[in-house]
Amino acid sequence: MQYVIYESAKEIGDAAGKIFVNVVKQKSDAAIGFATGATPLPTYSYMISEYEKGNVSFKGITTFNLDEYCDIPKDHKSSFYAFMVDNLFSKIDVKPENINFLDGNASNSEAESRRYADAISKAGGIDIQFLGIGRNGHIGFNEPAEAFTDESFKVKLTDSTIEANSVYFSDIAMPRYAITMGIGSIMKARKIVFVATGESKAEAVRDMIKGEVTPKCPASVLQRHGDVTIFLDKAAASLL
Ligand code: GLP
Repeated sequence: MQYVIYESAKEIGDAAGKIFVNVVKQKSDAAIGFATGATPLPTYSYMISEYEKGNVSFKGITTFNLDEYCDIPKDHKSSFYAFMVDNLFSKIDVKPENINFLDGNASNSEAESRRYADAISKAGGIDIQFLGIGRNGHIGFNEPAEAFTDESFKVKLTDSTIEANSVYFSDIAMPRYAITMGIGSIMKARKIVFVATGESKAEAVRDMIKGEVTPKCPASVLQRHGDVTIFLDKAAASLL
């Protein structure tokens, strides 16, 4: 797999952000897959600054987020929905009715998975997907497993993920379950922009790029995708 190493997260954000902006300039009604976490923030800042400068409009796009926690209200401050509104959606001209999320409180997660897959195909499939990586190699919330997953599903989070993400929960305990797009749905995106920064990601990045393709490192499946752009900082690339 090819990858590019940058000095700083800000430079990566500018480079990754440019790819998203160019997709939207070429296709104003693009379907975009977004991710949460600290990693995408510089990319989102770049997209916001291009919007503020009048260089791009997002009013035609449709968005699909990768995942959401179960058992917390959609608008709780630690939900991924709230994260996206705070860090991107409220700062650009995306139409609220074009924002799509998996419902972490759906009573029937299989029906919810079908609803999401239908919405994605109605939008023409995802044109470009942002991906970060968990310390254990997860993408979305596809935790290390015995087999690759297909469409969206409800997942029990691992201890490693609970430890890493607990910092985002101050008033309530972090949920133990989430609903996530499966590996099959992620792999259908036409283009993937993958970003990893920081030393805590170095092992997962090494396994993803140099290791065998295995569901024990879910991100390794990206070796089989034909259009992935990988941006790393020196710390994340330190074991390559
Ligand atoms: C999560 C998300 C992933 C994300 C990962 C890393 O919990 N489900 O989509 O890539 O954690 O997050 P961070 O970028 O904060 O390290």
